[in-house]
Amino acid sequence: MKDVIATYYFRPRADTKPDQAARAICDEETTGTWTDISTRTEYVKQLDGTVESVTPQGEGYITRIHYPAEIFEPGNVAQYLSVCAGNLFGLGRLDAVRLLDIEYPDSLIIPFKGPKFGISGVRKMIGSKNRPHVGTIIKPKVGLNPVDTASVAYEAAMGNVDLIKDDETLTDQAFCPIDKRLPLVMKRLEEAKDETGRQVLYAVNITTRADRIVQRALHAIELGANMIMIDIFTSGFGALQALGEDSRIKVPIHVHRTMHAAFTRNPEHGIAMRPLAHIIRMLGADQLHTGTVSGKMSHTTPEVKKSIDMLTCNCHGMKPTFPVSSGGLHPGNVAHELASLGIDIVLQAGGGIHGHPDGTAAGARAMRQAVDAFMEGKTAEEYAKDHYELERALKHWGSN
Ligand code: 3PG
Ligand code: 3PG
Ligand code: MG
Repeated sequence: MKDVIATYYFRPRADTKPDQAARAICDEETTGTWTDISTRTEYVKQLDGTVESVTPQGEGYITRIHYPAEIFEPGNVAQYLSVCAGNLFGLGRLDAVRLLDIEYPDSLIIPFKGPKFGISGVRKMIGSKNRPHVGTIIKPKVGLNPVDTASVAYEAAMGNVDLIKDDETLTDQAFCPIDKRLPLVMKRLEEAKDETGRQVLYAVNITTRADRIVQRALHAIELGANMIMIDIFTSGFGALQALGEDSRIKVPIHVHRTMHAAFTRNPEHGIAMRPLAHIIRMLGADQLHTGTVSGKMSHTTPEVKKSIDMLTCNCHGMKPTFPVSSGGLHPGNVAHELASLGIDIVLQAGGGIHGHPDGTAAGARAMRQAVDAFMEGKTAEEYAKDHYELERALKHWGSN
């Protein structure tokens, strides 16, 4: 394959034929503009794009557009997106347009190394083989001081979670600075390890301006971090790329997608998560939020699956990224998540652990029990008969 192939859904304006609308995208993103121009000479036209197909779908059409590889700067993701996800979204001749997928030729993938750890690397740190990981988000998402944050982490570790993470809005605020929070959390996780023998990961949210993120990551590692977390869409792709490419950063990167729904949610207009997940894997994410099939956030199961397929496909010679299902999960919806999304997944619960009637440690145990039930082929209700924490959780939240 020599071209970049982008697939879009679109609905043309009433006065525009579907073929013209697809052509308008193709011209705008390659050598054309709204009118003929004398400077588009013969040699320039070699870089014209082509519309491979336009097929009806629902109220609109699906088109596959080929962009010549030469118009892309290898390794420059910002530039890739300025072509495939650029001006086209504002074209007046389209009432709606949504980028669904991007396929790249090898030459544009080769500059990227992908995750340093990937699913198997993270599994190795935890010592897990064939089971989903269970994580928690420290809640409330903001407000706790460092000592209380560390106590919540300790409780969750005693309840046997694999991963503890900051929430997307907690970074380095005065009420809970990284310099105080991180060493305390790591100390309490060591205490838990002395008691349980299990290593737990803590993803500290190092999100900040792109030119300072590597420095913040290195500082966090010096303070003992065994995982770092970044809010990808608010930080920018360059920030993740800087972390992914820096060989001094020898801990996995957990990627949260806060803000994604501004462009992924509208089924007719915007950008699907799949092509974004693809880029995020290329840039080095070891874990990425891809949504739930039963949680608090709006979702469609096929879209979640398409993102997961992109993160885990055996492609580009890159390690797979661990998909993360998070947002409104609790023990009662674990089975539905796993049956729909598979077991190579991190299931995270914030409210669904800290909201357990008997507190955080019991909540963590209940999540693990719900996972164990699924792995043993039992329903949560069956398993709850001799697993008290799960029984209490199911009574509290029900199941689906
Ligand atoms: C959260 O912060 O509550 C969730 O991770 C958001 O879920 P989403 O990834 O489906 O948007
Ligand atoms: C996340 O960042 O993934 C969420 O905050 C999930 O929180 P919840 O489980 O309470 O919805
Ligand atoms: Mg959150």
